[in-house]
Amino acid sequence: MKNEFLEKFINFLKNEGFIFQSNEIYGGVSGFYDFGPLGSLMKLNIKNLWLKDVVFSEKNVFLIDTSLINPKVVFEASGHLENFFDILIECKNCHLRFKKEEGEKCPDCGSSNLTKPRKFNLMFQTKIGSTGKIDGFLRPETAQGVFVNFLNVLNSTRTKLPFGIANIGKSFRNEINPRNFIFRLREFEQMELEFFTKPQEADFWFNYWLEKRYNWYLSLGIKKENIKKVEIPKSELPHYSKRNVDLHYNFPFGFQEIEGLANRGDYDLKRHSEFSGKSLTYYDQKEKESYFPYVIEPSAGIERLVFAFLVDAFDEDEVDGKKRFVLRLNPKIAPIKFAVLPLLSNRKEIVRLAQDIYDNLRKEFICVYDENGSIGRRYRRQDEIGTPWCITVDFESLEKKDVTVRDRDSTKQERIKIEELEEFFLNKLK
Ligand code: GAP
Repeated sequence: MKNEFLEKFINFLKNEGFIFQSNEIYGGVSGFYDFGPLGSLMKLNIKNLWLKDVVFSEKNVFLIDTSLINPKVVFEASGHLENFFDILIECKNCHLRFKKEEGEKCPDCGSSNLTKPRKFNLMFQTKIGSTGKIDGFLRPETAQGVFVNFLNVLNSTRTKLPFGIANIGKSFRNEINPRNFIFRLREFEQMELEFFTKPQEADFWFNYWLEKRYNWYLSLGIKKENIKKVEIPKSELPHYSKRNVDLHYNFPFGFQEIEGLANRGDYDLKRHSEFSGKSLTYYDQKEKESYFPYVIEPSAGIERLVFAFLVDAFDEDEVDGKKRFVLRLNPKIAPIKFAVLPLLSNRKEIVRLAQDIYDNLRKEFICVYDENGSIGRRYRRQDEIGTPWCITVDFESLEKKDVTVRDRDSTKQERIKIEELEEFFLNKLK
């Protein structure tokens, strides 16, 4: 699909150092992207904000970090070997392979001369060890790392239901047709929580997490009209799920999923019990019985979130009669928190004071120093990459020991004492 806005946006994100095609100098392979100096900071901020919402602000959620490659039996148990496939069709004319949902004709050359649809498993397979005798797979979701560690976490934390185990990291899917920039990738990062509850409390926790996750997006500035909850029909549920409500974002190519919320029931713990021979039940001391807990799972892909936050923040307006392009990113998500700018780069005293301020503040904040070009151009450069504030050091600063702080969105400036800057920004970023 040609999308003029998207093409320009992708180019802009590359030029500014947000996102690059992986291995571009060798032509690249579709479905793989790298994050540049600004994009990787944004990713980090999003992960930290997710951790705050899902792990640290909760009483009973534990973070773990698990293997990316797992032996075959894990995915036999999880059902991915049997069920995790797309239906693939090949065009006999141009040999493009595409998903059945994409239509009855080849999306590239339009030919109707197609192969019969066949199943295509989306997992990447590998061989483990020097003899190559152990079949391994790159995980297609981080969730399985949680289920196989259920007993380890339960025993080591001595926790009680309800409790959660969170896992963040790379997942891999050999997508037939990766597309829409970083929306559908072959290698991506997931942030997943498996929240274990008594079966009869599963509906309550489903609603709790749905509202909590929906409000997280709004609290970080996503416009209400651009995000919606979508109930997934029973016929389209993944093999493990009893119910799914997805959060969809209004991308330049339409509303699409950014996060899924599933009630996985007791599917995973039961299956891993069966395949491992270890009992993954929970002993309820109050009820004096053992049972398999139910699992509520909020699952988000970091790249889709980066994409959604960037698109949502993009804006154009006019300042002093000049067109301005600005990323109105929430300051907590913005890669650079502020820039320190000497008003004039040829005045030694001003430059020295600006550099002192920068040296001092960069111990605490991710910020930049810039003395190149007119002050107007320097402001615009920061607006374009979403920097919420610019500190300008001028003549008055030398006498009064204060600076101007310019707000990206209103472009208003206020004078702040140099000694109060750290507290000023700490408060703003709370
Ligand atoms: N554990 C449940 C699970 O993996 P999913 O709906 O397949 O559910 C969850 O994936 C989230 O992971 C999606 O909402 C999306 O944000 C992200 N995701 C899934 N496949 C992706 C892909 N090919 N590229 C980028 N992100 C993807």
